[in-house]
Amino acid sequence: MKILVTGGAGYIGSHTCIELLASGHEVVIVDNLSNSSEESMSRVEKISGKKMAFIHADIRDEAALDAAFSQHKVDAVIHFAGLKAVGESTEFPLKYYDNNVSGSCVLMQVMDKHNVNTLVFSSSATVYGDPATVPITEDFPLTTTNPYGQSKLVVEQMCRETVIANDNLSVVLLRYFNPVGAHISGTIGEDPKGIPNNLMPFITQVAVGKREFLSVFGDDYDTVDGTGVRDYIHVVDLAKGHVQAIEKLHGQAGCHTFNLGTGQGYSVLEMVAAFSKACNKEVPYKIIERRAGDIGQCYADPAYAKSVLDWQAEKTLDDMVNDSWRWQSNNPDGYSS
Ligand code: NAD
Ligand code: WQD
Repeated sequence: MKILVTGGAGYIGSHTCIELLASGHEVVIVDNLSNSSEESMSRVEKISGKKMAFIHADIRDEAALDAAFSQHKVDAVIHFAGLKAVGESTEFPLKYYDNNVSGSCVLMQVMDKHNVNTLVFSSSATVYGDPATVPITEDFPLTTTNPYGQSKLVVEQMCRETVIANDNLSVVLLRYFNPVGAHISGTIGEDPKGIPNNLMPFITQVAVGKREFLSVFGDDYDTVDGTGVRDYIHVVDLAKGHVQAIEKLHGQAGCHTFNLGTGQGYSVLEMVAAFSKACNKEVPYKIIERRAGDIGQCYADPAYAKSVLDWQAEKTLDDMVNDSWRWQSNNPDGYSS
């Protein structure tokens, strides 16, 4: 298939392009490079030994998208493009609604115009809010506490409604848990701008000497050691989930929703211990107060993805920390190293 990948230069997008190319698909990337660089795409091509088409455009630019769909007869779209910083979204909510919601709306309109009827959308476990129990299945109530999460909920709803209105449309909503890790080559990985918001890039920057210590946000949750528990999933497993989704559900009209997680939760201190082993040094940390909006524990029931997509996460916690460390230590300043 020829697949248009929005946000394909970013963290999850770049790893997914590798898996798409490895499975024999052609890739056309649309990215405005607001949180990425062209370097990631060069490295993907090097790893794959294959070329991709790149269109430097914003998904809110209808004319640019229209031209992209006219130039490339694509079969399906994987839609990663979006802003993802929870804290920033509370400061600039309209920026998030504009980019994530309006952008998705323009994209779906242009797809419709060009009769492209398969869409895979990057949703998030954040749509489950603070779940009453774990593990979380796809039918749990949906709620969220911040504009970023709300932007995901609105796009999900927009997809469900559009599918009802269009009998030909197939939409796959993939709710990612906590993506970590990097390609085994150590040449592509997560490259956050500024201070990382997420745990794993913060730990890797402490280990490489860019930050003094990790602040652990609370140790009084009702968990194994009091620190927050999450379902960390290797980004390569996540990427493979997209290939399965598009191959299994292309042309299968309807709105299909899946958790992409491992089903296994690890605490912050378990992640620190695993990472210390990988980099063979102590990762200094200090326990501080809880971060506003955080929840105690969150992990997936991934059974539905296994039964329908024939997909499950294969990589271990050791793979996650070893691959994150290989990427960070080879590229201390990310793609600008
Ligand atoms: P990322 O920032 O690395 O990648 C997003 C890409 O989209 C970037 O290359 C950016 O330049 C591009 N982009 C953003 N807005 C755009 C626009 N208007 N037009 C064109 N390109 C645009 O983020 P990621 O971690 O790879 O996340 C990909 C998707 O997965 C996002 O939608 C994110 O919300 C979602 N997601 C991420 C996580 C996570 O923890 N990383 C978890 C759940 C869901
Ligand atoms: C993980 C754990 C923190 C940083 C966020 C978004 C979610 C999704 C994934 C996009 C928690 C603790 C973290 C630090 C810490 N993104 N922590 N010190 O909060 O589960 O999810 O990213 O969709 O929407 O909310 O991930 O990596 O920020 O935190 O102690 O410096 O690590 O409290 O327990 P989170 P995270």
